[in-house]
Amino acid sequence: MSLVPGIAVIGCGRISRSHLAAVSSQPELATLIATVDSDIRLARDAATRYGAQVAFDSVDEALARSDVHAVVICLPNHLHAPVAIQAARAGKHVLVEKPMADTAEDARAMAETARACQVVLAVAQCRRHFRAIRYLAEHQSQFGKLISAQVSLGVYWPDAQAPWWREADKASGLVVALNGPHVLDFVQMVMRDDPLRVHAEAVRCNDFWAGEDEAMMLLAYSGKRLASVHLSFNQRPVENRKVLVFERGTAVIENDTQLVFNGDLIVAQGDDEKRHYLDEAIEFQRQFREFTLAIAGQPNHSVSADEGIRLMRTLDAVHQAMRSGRTVELPAVVQDAESLDAVP
Ligand SMILES: NC(=O)c1ccc[n+]([C@@H]2O[C@H](COP(=O)([O-])OP(=O)(O)OC[C@H]3O[C@@H](n4cnc5c(N)ncnc54)[C@H](O)[C@@H]3O)[C@@H](O)[C@H]2O)c1
Repeated sequence: MSLVPGIAVIGCGRISRSHLAAVSSQPELATLIATVDSDIRLARDAATRYGAQVAFDSVDEALARSDVHAVVICLPNHLHAPVAIQAARAGKHVLVEKPMADTAEDARAMAETARACQVVLAVAQCRRHFRAIRYLAEHQSQFGKLISAQVSLGVYWPDAQAPWWREADKASGLVVALNGPHVLDFVQMVMRDDPLRVHAEAVRCNDFWAGEDEAMMLLAYSGKRLASVHLSFNQRPVENRKVLVFERGTAVIENDTQLVFNGDLIVAQGDDEKRHYLDEAIEFQRQFREFTLAIAGQPNHSVSADEGIRLMRTLDAVHQAMRSGRTVELPAVVQDAESLDAVP
């Protein structure tokens, strides 16, 4: 591999701009070699705008290039697993958009392939890279034991924002698969271990898509800790709020960018964090930097495949609970006496 890895961005739709900008604005980290989209006009437009050397309409062509060392997968959800596996088999490192896959089983197959092919597989949970979220991850123990987390992510979409959103099998449902990974990854980060029980209800309020657009879930953790999650595609104005009840007080995170603890402002939104995450957001630069550190085998804050599998396991339980109307009990995999002691 040359000094910096060559990158192909696969899928040049809505979220790709932030990934493309993250790669092309950091030439010291990587070189943008290829853009790929089955709609070649999108691939060409992206190549021109972000300075890629070549545009392709097929994944195979990009994977055949020896100067492509890593791929960023920005495809519809149902293509994450097959394309990540194909890329890993071609020897390319993979940064895959959330959700990592449709199911934990697919996520495990991706991780096993990456391990066998000795490539990095990281999940693009962009919200981990917001400054307030990173601060919380690094300083959580100062707030005392976490008692409960209430997380809301409500947005308003007057119609499907991409054609595949209309089809439940391509969108893996809808709001739970699209925004569930954001909030449940946060809950996983602060709880550290995995839920013991999951209750979930979901409904569809609009006819222009087939999946659920409103969902609520309740998760029970060891040590009497609880989390509640509300997801909406019907909420105006938008709400992105996290309330964490700790032994020493309450932390409130607004828009992933501002952290207040017991009324004191701990992390303020940076001027560079005011862009929408779909619009060349700074957090994607940080995320991409972490991915290149992972490729270089250095310490990094990328969301690992193992964390991704745990999240998919929780998402599977949410889907099962909302489809069956029953509480889903999860076998304790991560929990043990030692890890419980370590839970702050
Ligand atoms: N991190 C975030 O906050 C965030 C935000 C939006 C979307 N996403 C995720 O990013 C992924 C893409 O979402 P989007 O909104 O950009 O979708 P999109 O539909 O706008 O973009 C997907 C692109 O993939 C292309 N494509 C489809 N099949 C292809 C194939 N077989 N080969 C090559 N190209 C193909 C489509 O032509 C399209 O341009 C989804 O998994 C979504 O969950 C993440």
